[in-house]
Amino acid sequence: MLVSLFICPLCQSPLQPALDTWRCDGSLNLKHTNHPFDVARQGYVNLLPVQQKKSKAPGDSQMSIEARKRFLNAGYYQPLQALICQKMTELLAQNALGAESIAKSNNKPITWLDIGCGEGYYTQAIAKIGMDILLAADISKPAVVELAKASKAAGSLWYQQDKDDCGKMAAIYPLVTSAANLPLRAHSVTGISSIFSPILPEAFNQVLSDEGYLIIAKPDIGHLATMRDALFDDVREHDSDKFLHELAPYFALMNTYHVSTEMTLAVDDLADLMTMTPYAYRAHSEKRQALLAKVVTETFITEAKFVVYVLQKIAVA
Ligand SMILES: C[S@@+](CC[C@H](N)C(=O)[O-])C[C@H]1O[C@@H](n2cnc3c(N)ncnc32)[C@H](O)[C@@H]1O
Ligand SMILES: [Zn+2]
Repeated sequence: MLVSLFICPLCQSPLQPALDTWRCDGSLNLKHTNHPFDVARQGYVNLLPVQQKKSKAPGDSQMSIEARKRFLNAGYYQPLQALICQKMTELLAQNALGAESIAKSNNKPITWLDIGCGEGYYTQAIAKIGMDILLAADISKPAVVELAKASKAAGSLWYQQDKDDCGKMAAIYPLVTSAANLPLRAHSVTGISSIFSPILPEAFNQVLSDEGYLIIAKPDIGHLATMRDALFDDVREHDSDKFLHELAPYFALMNTYHVSTEMTLAVDDLADLMTMTPYAYRAHSEKRQALLAKVVTETFITEAKFVVYVLQKIAVA
């Protein structure tokens, strides 16, 4: 089933998954060398060669991953998780990805890529909505380790899944990789989600199948406004739509959805939220400490506001 879904990050030859070591067939390098990639004991595969690393430990740190895991598992962003799953379910049921789809009639598995998946709060929920393969990719090794451990505990890792079992969980492949050099064959992926994560129009366009989907989640205007007011003298909204212009040559915007949720935070949860939110973490330490000190005695209320974009790859005539 998986023949040639993956390609070697070093020489782009077809890469074959196996229990202990994934190997490319070397057909596209001059020496016909087979490059090996060991499966870690947690069940993930590191497909990020040192040559593609821009720092020693790229991506989110262990500390921010742990903070995010605690905060998200407390359920504060559940309304966003539910919205993403609902929209994805509708796409899967509705048209090209559904049971009667071209993909299915060609016997191709429905393959979804969650890029910048982090420790997998959204990924684990996405795995339950009816795709066959879920590629959980992040440049941060500690994030992928966490995700692999949770997937293994749930029995949803790629090698734990019985191919003939038409169960509801997707087979999850935790991969350390850069979004810029995806180790995936061109046109092999039915959909991509990028949830507060990098957006690379050309790389996404290359791996998506014709008319494939792209779901993007971002902070909306006014996201965590009271927290930002407390942390910065000058609060500037970022231009949340700029990336749409960069996507426009390849993707058509189908729909935009907004979701918000008011949160009453205790001091520990606020501390975690600041650690997992890069711009909050950049605030002056005195301001962060002052806010935390205040919240020890006073309730802190802030509103999380998100926007979800659903796009579709433009078919080339
Ligand atoms: C803000 S976090 C979002 C994580 C997760 N989607 C969530 O919402 O809980 C962004 C993630 O993107 C990852 N990331 C950053 N640059 C990346 C790249 N070039 N390729 C793949 N992942 C990247 C980070 O390591 C981090 O886990
Ligand atoms: Zn190779």
